[in-house]
Amino acid sequence: MKTIAVISQKGGAGKTTLAVHLAVAAEQSGIPTVLIDVDPQGSSRVWAEQRGGNVPEVLSDHAKQLPALIEKARKAGAGLVIVDTAPNADQAALTAARAADLIVIPCRPSLYDLAAIVASVDLSAIAKKQHVAVINAAPVQGDMGQDARTNLIGQSINVSPIIVHQRAAFSNSALTGQAAQEYEARGKAATEIRELFMDLAGRVGLPIPEMMKVGG
Ligand SMILES: Nc1ncnc2c1ncn2[C@@H]1O[C@H](COP(=O)(O)OP(=O)(O)O)[C@@H](O)[C@H]1O
Ligand SMILES: [Mg+2]
Repeated sequence: MKTIAVISQKGGAGKTTLAVHLAVAAEQSGIPTVLIDVDPQGSSRVWAEQRGGNVPEVLSDHAKQLPALIEKARKAGAGLVIVDTAPNADQAALTAARAADLIVIPCRPSLYDLAAIVASVDLSAIAKKQHVAVINAAPVQGDMGQDARTNLIGQSINVSPIIVHQRAAFSNSALTGQAAQEYEARGKAATEIRELFMDLAGRVGLPIPEMMKVGG
């Protein structure tokens, strides 16, 4: 079983959006996935309530309970745990980082977000875990997403080649407890998340089914 923690000090960076979409992508590729929400705001939990009983299973509790929840997921046969966290770089985020095989740091392509990302990268280093930043909510027009990637690479920060753009399907789908892949299966948002999931799966050594590779 692999664990991916989604961490960023910034509220609104896209932690919950990426966490729920990646969890659905993992389930769609046949990997039993548990999404653990340790943000007291409980956004992933709210999404799960809206969703009803559909997979992925979503557990929520205080960050202190994270090791116990991960153990519970392992015993239940999960292949992947995704942890959605609160917007900070404190003890709770460190607990999540320590429990993870990979730390995913969503980052909007703004100067302030690009500057704030260092705290999350430092946290990954303290936890001795690999990190990858993901540019999220990049404008569809223009070069802002690529420019933000270049900025992070210049700071020696690992950054995914997959840029997630600002797309209505990412927010609209949540209203009905769906993910973009379910809301608009052939849309661009669905494609971006599938590609991002493949990139992250490769980084943690999760098997990627052939059907994902051909975009099925
Ligand atoms: N790529 C995106 N495209 C469109 N809306 C997005 C995108 N990423 C995030 N959002 C929206 O931005 C807001 C904040 O995102 P959220 O995932 O809740 O951030 P966080 O969990 O880091 O606080 C939400 O309303 C969400 O729907
Ligand atoms: Mg959130």
